[in-house]
Amino acid sequence: MQNLDKLENYIREEGLTYFIATFGCQMNAHDSEKIEGILTDIGYQKTDSEKTADFIIYNTCCVRENAELKIFGKLGHLKSRKSKNPNFMVALCGCMMQQDVVLNTLKKSYNFVDIIFGTYNIYKLPELLQTRIETGDKIIDIWETHEEIVEDLPSIRKYNFKSCVNIMYGCNNFCTYCIVPYVRGRERSREITDIINQVQNLANDGVKEIMLLGQNVNSYSNSFASLLKSIENINGIERIRFMTPHPKDFSDELIEVIANSKKICKSIHLPVQSGSTNILNKMNRVYTKEDYLTLVDKIKRAIPDITLTTDIIVGFPGETAEDFNETLDVVKKVGYLSAFTFIYSKRTGTPAATMKNQVDEDTIKKRFNTLVETLDDISAEFMHKQIGKLYKILLEEVSKNDKQVLSGRTDSGILVHVKAPENLIGQFVDVTIIDAKTHYLTGQLY
Ligand code: 5AD
Ligand code: SF4
Repeated sequence: MQNLDKLENYIREEGLTYFIATFGCQMNAHDSEKIEGILTDIGYQKTDSEKTADFIIYNTCCVRENAELKIFGKLGHLKSRKSKNPNFMVALCGCMMQQDVVLNTLKKSYNFVDIIFGTYNIYKLPELLQTRIETGDKIIDIWETHEEIVEDLPSIRKYNFKSCVNIMYGCNNFCTYCIVPYVRGRERSREITDIINQVQNLANDGVKEIMLLGQNVNSYSNSFASLLKSIENINGIERIRFMTPHPKDFSDELIEVIANSKKICKSIHLPVQSGSTNILNKMNRVYTKEDYLTLVDKIKRAIPDITLTTDIIVGFPGETAEDFNETLDVVKKVGYLSAFTFIYSKRTGTPAATMKNQVDEDTIKKRFNTLVETLDDISAEFMHKQIGKLYKILLEEVSKNDKQVLSGRTDSGILVHVKAPENLIGQFVDVTIIDAKTHYLTGQLY
């Protein structure tokens, strides 16, 4: 470990600020909290003003092409800032950086970027900064893998009453459309004692809700179900969520643990991706439409008040009108509370990118709109049925549209707006539902 005194003195003397923008999933959002912790530790001050920050970090995502294009677009605006501010620096990190094609483009067309690092070496950021400042060289530090998991990184939490906790990193599933296994590496689980200690410390700190994170949480080490049982025993934690389970690994034991738990939220995000067995097969999802529906039935029978959400990809290569109808059929049979819907995006290096019969854009757009309408109808109907019901919600933040309104979530993950004073943020309250929209409810303090 380098001595960082010089770096820290420089940052503090100049009063340097940083701005971080995060793209993509919860995993990235959580990585950004770690980056914030590291930068705060070495003296940087956070700013929400991208225009005035001395140090700009983009934590990137490469799951879909759009996310990548956005980054290149944003970068284009930064170059001229260098001549105006001698301290100005730009760093790029995250999944996008783990791809050679991206690195080549950056070297060729965006060579003003100061530091590029990847998904495995976030904890090295202070050393990379120091080297950049001392030598004046541009730094590119991308690792191909990292076997060991680095524990105890500082982290700045966005909320003081809820927090994400990584339980595993990487993915071994190689769904044929997905770039994640190539940029996040093979599955690595954290030690159970490290996880339990972290959750205990969070609980001591006043955290009430935790979200366990992993690309495929139910293949956690020996048993995800037993990890959940251990976390259940930690006093102070009142709600446990997790993301993302893979349907193929959703065991009966896991269903039982959720059903019997007082803390595990009765909402499961269960990515289906497609309702067609034919497409699921080409996606390498390792379950059929019937397997998925059987699993959903089993879950619903064991946990009657469960809500389900999902991820769906429209326009996977070779998807026919019939395949798409199978997806609509699953959507109707399951009755999802909500879904993340994606237009298939070709990712170079994945098997699907070279598959025949890529679906044309117009057809995809039509299917996408039909899917969203179907999902919205189901959600609206469900939401309207909640009027008059009593819910316990955890109030999370001031609503963006109305300063007198706070938004919170039910155990089952439904967004509820309620008129309430700001000092109730972080508290559980009982509310009666008085109105419903497609994607949120309005409640009244009980
Ligand atoms: N195109 C579209 N959607 C994708 N996802 C992953 N890869 C792609 C891709 N190439 C979606 C999947 C996954 C979610 C995180 O992103 O639905 O569950
Ligand atoms: Fe990608 Fe499939 Fe792994 Fe999810 S399970 S990260 S979709 S490869």
